[in-house]
Amino acid sequence: MNDLVNLSENQSSSEPVNGRFYIKTFGCQMNVADSERMASLLAEQGLEPTEEAKDADVVIINGCTVREKAVHKALSTLGQLREIKNRKKKSPPIIGIGGCVGQLDKATLFKKAPGLDFVFGTDTIDNLPEIIHRVKNGEKHVVYADFDTSMDYSTETKVFGHKAQAFVNIMKGCDKYCTYCIVPYTRGKEKSRTIDEVVDDIARLVATGVREVTLLGQNVNSFGKGNSNQKNRQPMELHNVIGKVGPRAGEENFPQLLRAIDSDPRCEALRRIRFTSSHPLDFSDELIECYAPASQGGVSRLSPYLHLPVQSGSNQVLQKMGRHHKIEGYFAQMDRLREICPDVGLSTDLIVGFPTETEEDFQETLRLLDRVQFDNIYAFAYSPRPGTRAAKLPDDVSAKVKNERLNHLLKYQLEIAEKLYKTRVGKVMEILVEGEAKNQKMASTSSIVGRVWTGKTPCHRVVNFISDSPRSLVGQFVQVKITEATGLSLQGELITGDLQ
Ligand code: SAM
Ligand code: SF4
Ligand code: F3S
Repeated sequence: MNDLVNLSENQSSSEPVNGRFYIKTFGCQMNVADSERMASLLAEQGLEPTEEAKDADVVIINGCTVREKAVHKALSTLGQLREIKNRKKKSPPIIGIGGCVGQLDKATLFKKAPGLDFVFGTDTIDNLPEIIHRVKNGEKHVVYADFDTSMDYSTETKVFGHKAQAFVNIMKGCDKYCTYCIVPYTRGKEKSRTIDEVVDDIARLVATGVREVTLLGQNVNSFGKGNSNQKNRQPMELHNVIGKVGPRAGEENFPQLLRAIDSDPRCEALRRIRFTSSHPLDFSDELIECYAPASQGGVSRLSPYLHLPVQSGSNQVLQKMGRHHKIEGYFAQMDRLREICPDVGLSTDLIVGFPTETEEDFQETLRLLDRVQFDNIYAFAYSPRPGTRAAKLPDDVSAKVKNERLNHLLKYQLEIAEKLYKTRVGKVMEILVEGEAKNQKMASTSSIVGRVWTGKTPCHRVVNFISDSPRSLVGQFVQVKITEATGLSLQGELITGDLQ
């Protein structure tokens, strides 16, 4: 509940606050984007970022609750923060928790984490300046964790600092209710921004130097449901090979959004559009057609990359997971996409050890990897989440078997990826540089004296290369010739770039 009271004039949330802030983020890209928003709001309030929790006056945990382990991580971080608070008796930091953990567990967190000052949810991030003021003014245990109950979703993206890459929330919530998943309970009902608003937002970001946007939502394929078609936009009936019909004529939809961004003259300087995440059920033929070459009607800036979570290769498991499609439909979607865009990079999410998963079901998941040839997988051992439908099923695959299956799956995929990545050796690829590589080992064996940089190809593969440039390459597009490949990344030689 929001225990909102009107702020008195001398408590105005627009009053500047001195000091430093630190945010620790757990979870998915949605949380990463939310943390960036929090950082912008705190900086607007006058706080400065710091790299270390021990130096901060305001510490925020942006927590994830998708698996039990993630919740434990957030709570144990709160335990460490309490020790810091105890040590800094003269000027103790204020400590808050937000994200999906804050949303789900609300006021109960104060019992679990003594030393905690405030809790906020996924829909109350913009209240952060107000919350900080209230805590600074001596209020205890402040909670802002109501869902926004309005029908519309309108927001403006906030980017912290000058960046070439930006996450843009285009929708929020999830209405799919897969039986194992807590997200619909932490992110609320599905709501979309309008196409006009998203395009204006991206145009503004492009004007500040953003060159790659990642459109975010739990299910971007169902973007636009409930939004009536805006002026001059062709109604589009969406079909998909799974046999279901997606969003209907008369409402906005995701392919329309991609085309609207791509054709807006204000977005001319944008180089890459990405999106995540998708559900096979709404992954329409019209969206697949967006991956065609621009000369054949495709969306020219759409990156040749798709993350399409499938979760399991077994139909009996998919059915128990409430995914509402069969594996054959997924294969048909992947085949069609590869036909239209042969160089597309593919990734997926998989869960092993879901209740009743047999060895044969697991073998079907391995066969799925052989069949689709993903560049990358994100695999997890099933973790029962209280309140979900699957939590009522017996968690009958032992922890030992779950771990064995997970390790086997990851090893199996690594071999596939290594073979796939090796086919790239010798090719020249465009890389958007994201930063200096954590591992600088490559520099010690190279004839070039310089730093190792890391970035991604249009198909989302990680590439490391060395440059002797004394300047930062972050945000630059460079051409790199691939020289080596492992199952996790590519290495290359810098050829040219936007280097100024
Ligand atoms: N909306 C996206 C989708 O449909 O794939 C992302 C959902 S969730 C944030 C990311 C991934 O976590 C899921 O795709 C699933 O593989 C995994 N996951 C969700 N609930 C889980 C659970 N109870 N146990 C293990 N993994 C889980
Ligand atoms: Fe969770 Fe399923 Fe929604 Fe993805 S689509 S967030 S897995 S309920
Ligand atoms: Fe975790 Fe919430 Fe994302 S539960 S995975 S942070 S939507």
